[in-house]
Amino acid sequence: MKAILIDEFGGPEVLRIADIAEPIPTSGEILVEIHTASVNPADSKVRQGTGPGVGNVTFPYIIGRDFSGVVKALGENVTEFTPGDAVFGVLPMGSEGTYCEALTIDAALVAKKPDALSHSAAAAIVLTGLTSLVSIEDTLELQTGEKILIHGGAGGVGSFAVQLAHHIGAHVITTASPVNHDYLQGLGADEVIDYNSQDFTEVLSGIDVIFDLIGGDVHQRSFEVLKPGGRMAYIAPLLKDATPARDDVEIMRPNVQRDRKHLERIVELYEVGAIKIPSLQEMPLTEAGRAHDLIDTQHVRGKIVLQVK
Ligand SMILES: NC(=O)c1ccc[n+]([C@@H]2O[C@H](COP(=O)([O-])OP(=O)(O)OC[C@H]3O[C@@H](n4cnc5c(N)ncnc54)[C@H](OP(=O)(O)O)[C@@H]3O)[C@@H](O)[C@H]2O)c1
Repeated sequence: MKAILIDEFGGPEVLRIADIAEPIPTSGEILVEIHTASVNPADSKVRQGTGPGVGNVTFPYIIGRDFSGVVKALGENVTEFTPGDAVFGVLPMGSEGTYCEALTIDAALVAKKPDALSHSAAAAIVLTGLTSLVSIEDTLELQTGEKILIHGGAGGVGSFAVQLAHHIGAHVITTASPVNHDYLQGLGADEVIDYNSQDFTEVLSGIDVIFDLIGGDVHQRSFEVLKPGGRMAYIAPLLKDATPARDDVEIMRPNVQRDRKHLERIVELYEVGAIKIPSLQEMPLTEAGRAHDLIDTQHVRGKIVLQVK
């Protein structure tokens, strides 16, 4: 089968196409013929050798975390799927390999893809959806009427998170460059701040909840706008030796585990119309290098999806 793999860490040029053996599902696993794989900033961090867990990488290595495809074969003891079922999912934490034509995965970690959701759309909202659900519903427990600030609303996670927070009935404030303001209002943002020209700490205060997708200095400055008792969850790297700047607020690091329950919640939200598909850029698997050039700009709107089949 065709795969995009790396033999060393580096820039997008280290991604190369190769022919490798198709994996064989073991007990409890399914073999999935991949139709689409989405591109995440984490894929770039692994490619560069900077992400957590890269110490376990052995070359040649296939990157990529989330996918949509069709069940091709079953390992022993798999009863809930039959070959031909359309499924989508995310590989387990610490494991990768979706930039290719087929993968094996524990059947318990995937869900059936409804026909109404295209393979491109499914791959685009799976890791971003899981991350948003675990962060906003499970960890922050966002409530109707609360004021939430989402840093970095226009990206993959932000595009889902803004819609989820709007669906919950929160007042949604997000940060983005001007080119993305109409896009974010269309997803349900009540206020959009241009972080390039406006310091959010000067225009916001009394925020109940922050979902921080940017980290670094933005994370440290966020303490200034939280109300006493406020809550902040973060998923991007913090400044070296960062410490909470206040002890009257709660700071949380969501643990984005993979399971079918959350994938089915994504489907449910899509089917009730709470979640629309983010802005998508689709390109063939062979253009993974171009996709990485784009993701490395840190200014992709929505998601990039690689079409494998
Ligand atoms: N821990 C986990 O489980 C987990 C899971 C998923 C993602 N993540 C991490 O979460 C972060 C976000 O992921 P993602 O997939 O949403 O990334 P992404 O799609 O690459 O985000 C791109 C967006 O970031 C915005 N942006 C860049 N700098 C900004 C700033 N200073 N302030 C506000 N917005 C800014 C850009 O908006 P403009 O073009 O409008 O400026 C762009 O639309 C990444 O670091 C990723 O690795 C962690």
